[in-house]
Amino acid sequence: MEGQETKKVMLSGIQPSGKLHLGNYLGPLQHWPRMIEDFDCYFFLADLHTITVRQEPADLRRQTLELLASYIACGLDPEKCTLFIQSHVHQHAELAWVLNCYTMFGELSRMTQFKDKAAKHAENVNAGLFTYPVLMASDILLYQPDYVPVGDDQKQHVELCRDVANRFNGVYGDVLRVPEPYIAKVGARIRSLNMPDTKMSKSIPEGCVYLLDRPEDIARKFKRAVTDSDTERCVRYDPERKPGVANLIQIYAAATGKTYEEVEQEFDGKGYGAFKPAVGEAVIETLRPIREETERLLKDKAYLESVYRAGAEKASYIAEKTLRKVYKKVGFVQR
Ligand code: TRP
Repeated sequence: MEGQETKKVMLSGIQPSGKLHLGNYLGPLQHWPRMIEDFDCYFFLADLHTITVRQEPADLRRQTLELLASYIACGLDPEKCTLFIQSHVHQHAELAWVLNCYTMFGELSRMTQFKDKAAKHAENVNAGLFTYPVLMASDILLYQPDYVPVGDDQKQHVELCRDVANRFNGVYGDVLRVPEPYIAKVGARIRSLNMPDTKMSKSIPEGCVYLLDRPEDIARKFKRAVTDSDTERCVRYDPERKPGVANLIQIYAAATGKTYEEVEQEFDGKGYGAFKPAVGEAVIETLRPIREETERLLKDKAYLESVYRAGAEKASYIAEKTLRKVYKKVGFVQR
C-alpha cells in the first residue's frame, strides 16, 4: 500500500453560499470519497470568499456547518482528509495581501467571473469581489498542492494562480509550487427538472432537488418534472429531442447504477406517469442515508467542532510554513 507521504496533494474550496443539490451530488461530489483514497486531500469551506456578496450572518454560519456535515455524510471521512473552515486559518488572508502586490490590475480586470458578478451585483462591486482570485491563489499556494480540481467556471482563476506563482518564483526563486488543474471525472451533468435546457441550480428552486429535501418534496418535484410534448411518449434517451426525459434517465441511471439501455428497457411500454415517480423514488432512496446522517451530525455540535478544529490545526501548520518562507523572501524581518 502507498504511504501517506507519497500521495499527491489535492486541494479544493467550496463556498458555503447555498445548499447542496442533486446536481452537485451526482456530479463531482459522488467521486470525492474515492479521491480521498488516492490523494492527500484538503477541502475547506471558503467563507472568506462568500462575503464578497452580501450574506445574512446567521445563514452563513448555518450553511457553513450544514455543508461540513453534508460532506462528511457524503463520505468525506475526516480521518482520511483535512476538512477545515477558511476563516479559521488566518494565513489565507495574510498571503493574499502579499500576492495582491504581485497581481496586476489588468489581470484581475480580465476575469470573466468578476465581470459577471459585477454586472449581477451592480450595487455592491466591492474590492473583495475584484481581488477574490488573489485570495483563491493564496488558498491554493499555501498548501503546495499538485492538483486543484476545477470546473469550467474556475479554470481562469487557476490559470491566474499559476501566473502569479510563476511571477513570484521568477523574482525569488522556487518558492511556490505551481499546481496543475485537475479535470475531474465529471459524472453526470444534471439539469433542472422544470427547465431541462439549463443545469440544475438553486436559482431555479422548483427544478432543483436539495440533498436535505424531505421525501415528499422530492416526490412532488419529480411528479412535476418537465418531460416533452413528443407524440411518441416513451422513455428513450434522446437529449436533442427529449431533453427532459434524457435528464430523468440520467438521474435514474446515476441513482441506481443502471445503464441508459437498462432504464429504457425497464420502462418500455410504460408512460411518463410511471417513470417520473420511479425516478423520484430512486432519488429519495439515494439521498435518504445522506440526509439522515447530515441531520444526525448537525445535532452533534461537539463532533463537528472537533472535526473543524483538528482540520484548522493541521492546515495552519502547513500554511504557516509557506507563509514564513514568503515573508522571508520578500524581506520582512523575522519575529
Ligand atoms: N472560487 C471557488 C468557487 O467559487 C471556491 C474556491 C475558493 C476554491 N478557493 C479555492 C476552489 C481554492 C479551489 C481552490 O467555486
